Amino acid sequence: MAQDDLKLSVARAAVKYVPEGKIIGVGTGSTANFFIDELAKIKDRITGAVASSKATAERLAAHGIRVFNLTEVEEIPVYIDGADEITRSGAMIKGGGGALTREKIIASAAARFICIADESKLVATLGKFPLPVEVIPMAYKLVAGKLDALGGRAELRIRDGKPFVTDNGNLILDVFGLQIGHPLRLEEKINNFTGVVTVGLFAQRGADLCLLGSPDGVGTLEF
Ligand code: A5P
Repeated sequence: MAQDDLKLSVARAAVKYVPEGKIIGVGTGSTANFFIDELAKIKDRITGAVASSKATAERLAAHGIRVFNLTEVEEIPVYIDGADEITRSGAMIKGGGGALTREKIIASAAARFICIADESKLVATLGKFPLPVEVIPMAYKLVAGKLDALGGRAELRIRDGKPFVTDNGNLILDVFGLQIGHPLRLEEKINNFTGVVTVGLFAQRGADLCLLGSPDGVGTLEF
C-alpha cells in the first residue's frame, strides 16, 4: 500500500472526530492536506477552521471553508495535524514543513490534539528525523552553537538555494544526530536558548490520540 493511501485513510478516519458546528484547528503538511480535502466534503457541518500556516489557510479557503484567526475564536475543541515522528507516549517531532510555531500555538489552545500519521512515523526514540528549531534570524549562529553542544549537528534549512523563511519571517535550524531519550527535558532546555522561537518537539503538549495508518487499517493510540 502506498504511503499516500495510508495518509488518505487516516485523513478519512479523522473526519469522524470533527465536532458539529465548531471551529477546529487544522495542521500543515501532506497528511493534513488529505485531511483538508476530506473536511471539505463535510464543510457545511462546521463553522470554520484556524489554520497553522499560510498554505493551509489557502487550501481551506480554496475549498470554501471559512478561516478564522486564533484571536477571534473562543474555543478549539480539536486540532488535527500530522507529525514527522511520534512515540507510543504521544511525544512528537514536527516542523518538517516549517510550520511548527503556529502548529504549537494552535495545539496548545486546543482541547484535544489528534495526530494523523502513517505507520512509518511511529518510532521508539525521537531524533532520526532532524529536529526543526525556528530561530530569530540574527541569532541563528548563536543557537546553532548551543544545539551542537547538545550533541547534535545544526544546519540552516536551505530551500531552492536560499535560507528557508517561515511564515513568521524567521529561519529554521534542522538538528541532525540527536537521540531524544527525554523529549520533555530537551524541549524545556531548547526553549530556554535565547533566540529560539519554537522547538519542533511536542512533548509538553503532545498528542491525545493518534490515528495510525497501516496496510491492515487505521489503528488508534490513546495517550
Ligand atoms: C509541518 O510543519 C509539520 O509539522 C507537519 O505536520 C509534519 O511535517 C508532517 O508532515 P507530512 O504529513 O507531510 O509528513
